[in-house]
Amino acid sequence: MTVSVIVGSQWGDEGKGKITDILAERVDLVVRYQGGNNAGHTVVVGDKTFKLHLIPSGILFDSCVCVIGNGVVIDPTVFFGEIETLKAQGIYVTPEKLKVSSIANVILPFHKMLDNAQEAKLHDEKIGTTGKGIGPTYTDKIARRGVRVQDLLSKTKLRKRLEKRHWDQAFSNVNIDMDSVVEEYYALGQRLKPFIVDSSLYVNKAIDAGKNVILEGAQGTMLDVDHGTYPFVTSSNPISGGACIGVGVGPHKINQVLGVTKAYVTRVGEGPFPTELNDDMGELLRTQGSEFGTTTGRPRRCGWLDLVVLKYAVRVNGLTSICFTKLDVLDGMKSLKVCTHYKTSEGILDELPLDLDVFSEAEPVYVELPGWDEDISSVTSYDELPETAKKYIQFVSDFVGVQIKMVSVGSGRRQTIHVLTI
Ligand code: GDP
Ligand code: IMO
Ligand code: MG
Repeated sequence: MTVSVIVGSQWGDEGKGKITDILAERVDLVVRYQGGNNAGHTVVVGDKTFKLHLIPSGILFDSCVCVIGNGVVIDPTVFFGEIETLKAQGIYVTPEKLKVSSIANVILPFHKMLDNAQEAKLHDEKIGTTGKGIGPTYTDKIARRGVRVQDLLSKTKLRKRLEKRHWDQAFSNVNIDMDSVVEEYYALGQRLKPFIVDSSLYVNKAIDAGKNVILEGAQGTMLDVDHGTYPFVTSSNPISGGACIGVGVGPHKINQVLGVTKAYVTRVGEGPFPTELNDDMGELLRTQGSEFGTTTGRPRRCGWLDLVVLKYAVRVNGLTSICFTKLDVLDGMKSLKVCTHYKTSEGILDELPLDLDVFSEAEPVYVELPGWDEDISSVTSYDELPETAKKYIQFVSDFVGVQIKMVSVGSGRRQTIHVLTI
């Protein structure tokens, strides 16, 4: 029995979807623990590309049951839309295959309106959210006025919960028709009914029965509402600790924490990013890595690998190993820079500063490592990798003191090198 958390160690889009899918072949359950359809997890299988937003990345295997945990915020229309898209691609999602927590909070139409209205109001200080209503839904959850999945099953309860929400000033001139929201979301609740379970009970029973379980995170460590670059973060806890809360499992049940780390760094949306490259090299990484958002299509900001960030991610998540992705994107680059320290007004720092002003002005101090000319996208064993690629991996592993479990050299399932078998 193994319970693994899969967590992004940077600003999201590290390739969590691909890694979860690879590992899902050998597990019984994949459980999403936070975020919502702000996530975009791409899984490539042969000539098919699956884009998952809300449904866990284990859904492509018949042998694997997927669970949307209580920590996730659910947009029911997106949920059914994704099921339809998967059906069109030959994947049939039934209530036997997919379970939804009865106590997950629901994204309602006004949450999306509010998300966009808040962003517009912030002008230059906007966060660059995905506009999916994530922040306002979590705000309502914490303010104890949210609507949960089980509330959709009774019109009376749903109306009562909606009345708890004191309409925001932003809505003073927007006409929200309570009756139609109740009717629409009650109807969606009826469609959701067969999928609804007590997900903590369901997952804990599976763990106690010796099943193998993945707890799948969305976003990444640096987007964590507590530990990320606040306020330029998402509104949930992607870090591994979030898995206990977002699923309802005790920390002692978790055996391993796998950090997914891209061989360079990307960020979508606003906020500081010390190793960002606003030059031809940044453009090269974006083109070679196809770095455009899965959810919004926005070009991703690109930069060199930041080991201060990775060391921080190792600490706040308790990473037990790293899955290193997109190494192939670095093919053909003469030399590779890796940030090991920051130069700031407070001196040279080797730990991530928590003051955003200091982090924003941090200048990366780089170590330069030789690149490789070879195309590594069809390499299947660690030994076959060019020596300089192995040195790059080894440098990262030694610097942060964590073993590399996998190296990904392409988006396909087979383009994965298993370094550690456990
Ligand atoms: P996630 O949000 O962490 O699941 O990552 P995304 O799916 O948003 O972004 C990762 C992108 O890189 C996807 O398009 C993947 O298909 C692709 N990808 C994953 N691993 C690799 C890899 O090793 N090499 C290349 N070239 N692409 C990869
Ligand atoms: P996956 O799971 C990358 C970013 C947004 C924005 C900030 C807040 O695919 O890695 P939100 O809509 O969550 O309130 O936006 O977080 N963001 C992501 N960036 N990958 C993601 O998910 C993201 N989900 C949210 O761009 O900067
Ligand atoms: Mg993504």
